[in-house]
Amino acid sequence: MADTTEINVFPNGPLRITGNFVIKDGQGKEFDLAGRTTIALCRCGHSANKPFCDGSHARNGFQSVVEARALPPPAPKP
Ligand code: FES
Repeated sequence: MADTTEINVFPNGPLRITGNFVIKDGQGKEFDLAGRTTIALCRCGHSANKPFCDGSHARNGFQSVVEARALPPPAPKP
């Protein structure tokens, strides 16, 4: 398995994660990804199989094109 994890923001589509990763639910239980090393996570909110993309973004006309940019420094922790 790859050492790094890469997240690609697809134009008008999902977040594709590739590499070494785990996905957990709100209780910390890990999803069984059946050996997948690449998976797409929904960012449009329309998937019937959240958190995974099921292609609904295309049927719902999801529009979001982003460009890589620098973020401001994180706020100091109290
Ligand atoms: S991004 Fe594909 S269904 Fe939401």
